[in-house]
Amino acid sequence: MKNLVRVPAFVDLHVHFRDPGFPEKEDAFSGGRAAAAGGFAAVCMMPNTRPAIDSPETLTDADRRGRAAGIRVFAASAMTRAQEGDALVDFDAMDGADTACRALTGHGVCGISEDGKTLANDTLMEAVCASARRLGLPVMDHAEPETETIRRDIALAKKTGARFHIQHVSLAGSVALLRAAKAEGAPITCETAPHYFALTNEEPLRQGANAKMNPPLAAERDRLAIIEGLRDGTIDCIATDHAPHEPAAKALPFAEAANGIVGLETAFAVSYTMLVKGGYLSLADLVRLMSTRPAEIIGLAPPDDDYVLLDLETPYGIDAAAFLSKGRNTPFGGMRVYGRVMKTVCAGRAVYERRPC
Ligand code: DOR
Ligand code: ZN
Repeated sequence: MKNLVRVPAFVDLHVHFRDPGFPEKEDAFSGGRAAAAGGFAAVCMMPNTRPAIDSPETLTDADRRGRAAGIRVFAASAMTRAQEGDALVDFDAMDGADTACRALTGHGVCGISEDGKTLANDTLMEAVCASARRLGLPVMDHAEPETETIRRDIALAKKTGARFHIQHVSLAGSVALLRAAKAEGAPITCETAPHYFALTNEEPLRQGANAKMNPPLAAERDRLAIIEGLRDGTIDCIATDHAPHEPAAKALPFAEAANGIVGLETAFAVSYTMLVKGGYLSLADLVRLMSTRPAEIIGLAPPDDDYVLLDLETPYGIDAAAFLSKGRNTPFGGMRVYGRVMKTVCAGRAVYERRPC
């Protein structure tokens, strides 16, 4: 029997399960199984489904779909109805909804996010902040254009007292802004994703649309700044931005191909290989970035019986054909990695166990 290491199950603040609306890409069951296979016992779904998660009805429906795979599936509320940027969602009703998230965090949703888009209207954004602050929910912002929007969000966090969580940080300039804002005590947290510290903008030249996502892969100096941000605590957590797409959506000229890559089943191994094997972080640091800290950000006290067993010793090659996700759109296919998830337990129940081969 190999030496297996037990750590708290991972928590992903950023996944796209496409359910309802795009079952050819993913659904809550396949997404939930992919999460379990990746060592995650809790995930936050982004609201860019169709219909969007923008009302108590759509939220309750998303919550019901999310229960299928046996892990904890939470949802973020959209900022505006149908994510059209006009009418604000009724955040009180969303927060009051009876969901899996509410049972564990006291909140019907894990946060408020327009992910996939940025809400550019500053007046509306200020109204979002006022509700978020009153309800105690984080404003999870898809910051694009990145540094400009982060600058606005830092100003709004200071002005309104709303807690911001900046999604998928990818640039050196953004890390610098967030470092300074945190030093001043602004109520702000942020995440990056494994591709931003593992890959650069050279990758699309090699792999085409399988390395296309929003925000795009950046330069080597950005990649190194992301690692530094993870090291010094500027970046609070690693999320996947798991964004499955069917092959046809990627088999288009680069400019027209869909944005996004799957990440749930590669996140731990890519992070462990790049950051811990790479000598930048300890395993305990990585567990903080993938389990403890993301849980804290959404007010989740992770139960002791949510855990993962890891094989950290045996290298393997990433095989997209074996993913439980419906998505095969990964730039990590064939990468040799360490850090295999052998078993995932949620609420004391095994939700994933790797079959011996
Ligand atoms: O690459 C991305 N894909 N970035 C996003 O923010 C949205 C996501 C999607 O929904 O496909
Ligand atoms: Zn996203």
